[in-house]
Amino acid sequence: MTGVAPGLQPTILVVDDCPDNLELITALLDDSYQVRVASDGRQALAAAAAVPPPDLILLDVMMPDMDGYQVCRRLKREAATAAIPVIFLTAKTEITDEERGLELGAVDYISKPISPPIIKARIRTHLSLKVSTDSLRATLVQVRTAHRQLQETVEHLVHAEKMAALGQLVAGVAHEINTPLGIAITVATHMTEMARELAGVADQGRIRKSDFKDFLKLTLEASDLLYVNVNRASRLVQSFKQIAVDQCADERRCFDLNAVLNDVLISLGPALKGHGVVPSCPASLVLDGYPGALARILTNLVMNAVTHAFEPGQAGRLFITAGSDGAGGIELVVADDGRGIPAEHRSKIFDPFFTTRRGAGHPGLGLHIVFNLVTTRLGGTIVLDPQATPGSRFVLRVPQTAP
Ligand SMILES: Nc1ncnc2c1ncn2[C@@H]1O[C@H](COP(=O)(O)OP(=O)(O)OP(=O)(O)O)[C@@H](O)[C@H]1O
Ligand SMILES: [Mg+2]
Repeated sequence: MTGVAPGLQPTILVVDDCPDNLELITALLDDSYQVRVASDGRQALAAAAAVPPPDLILLDVMMPDMDGYQVCRRLKREAATAAIPVIFLTAKTEITDEERGLELGAVDYISKPISPPIIKARIRTHLSLKVSTDSLRATLVQVRTAHRQLQETVEHLVHAEKMAALGQLVAGVAHEINTPLGIAITVATHMTEMARELAGVADQGRIRKSDFKDFLKLTLEASDLLYVNVNRASRLVQSFKQIAVDQCADERRCFDLNAVLNDVLISLGPALKGHGVVPSCPASLVLDGYPGALARILTNLVMNAVTHAFEPGQAGRLFITAGSDGAGGIELVVADDGRGIPAEHRSKIFDPFFTTRRGAGHPGLGLHIVFNLVTTRLGGTIVLDPQATPGSRFVLRVPQTAP
């Protein structure tokens, strides 16, 4: 015996139907290992399934009833025993026997008559390999656990982020709609007061023509103001509805990109007056997706260029280019040669309610809606090219077939 405590010694299961062999191998190994023996296949399977399992099995091939190959096959089939290294130990020396053993999942094959130094060296090698494999396996389990925890944390963060974004959106909607509704309420209250005053004067029978004229003038002004603000609130509600991509009725179908682009440019004709538009789209570029969403995206991008890129009266140029993105999808670029978007605004332009035209009927939802449509409805991406100069350059990539 070596000085190693018995509990720490690796366990070797020796399987052989010949008692002399079992005795010989046990004598050879029992100073360094705990040796268990089995004299047939069934005993071998039972001993391998014991807890704790052996660290290595020396397995004779030729045995009555169940031979070593069968034992090995069954060991490798069971999860509890599959990882135990098996070394075949046999008088069979044909290369095909060796191949068959290794194919069944054995780690080594030693021919009898055995040489003590060789068998000891091979056992040492495979035991140390097993230690490394076990530790790798344990690390893998830890990595998998850490990965799962990371995924849960990410999901949690994404959820928290979404809730925060939703909160901001609701606050933004409330803020935007509050202004026109607040004005409308003030105007309506004022109109009621004016009507009450006039009624009072009329009741007293001292109404003058000028009172009535003043009342009519103020009522007309007030109703104009009322109309403008209620209309503004109504348009805001329409924009808010578009934030939710699912709200827009848009049938999926195969469509020609060129045709959609032309329709958009024709419908925007009056707004584009004074500007040069350079469209470039291959004929018959067919997509399977949502033409309505694409038209809205193009409309918003083109209208943004017209609204924000140029000085009043300045004749600008717009470039709309479509083509393959080289990876099975479509690249669509909408660019202008206007003033561009300042670096400090670039990270915010896709946020809801970001606008540099507040108070001029622009709630700042256009690019947010575009972003939602591109990513959710079309399954693509949109970025503002940071290199583009002069002007702005929006690059969209969408799959030829929407998700
Ligand atoms: N082509 C462009 N050139 C210069 N600035 C742009 C351009 N496109 C967008 N922007 C800037 O990005 C901001 C956000 O655009 P977005 O379309 O989201 O809102 P908006 O046009 O201001 O309002 P809305 O689209 O709701 O009417 C704009 O206010 C403007 O400052
Ligand atoms: Mg806009």
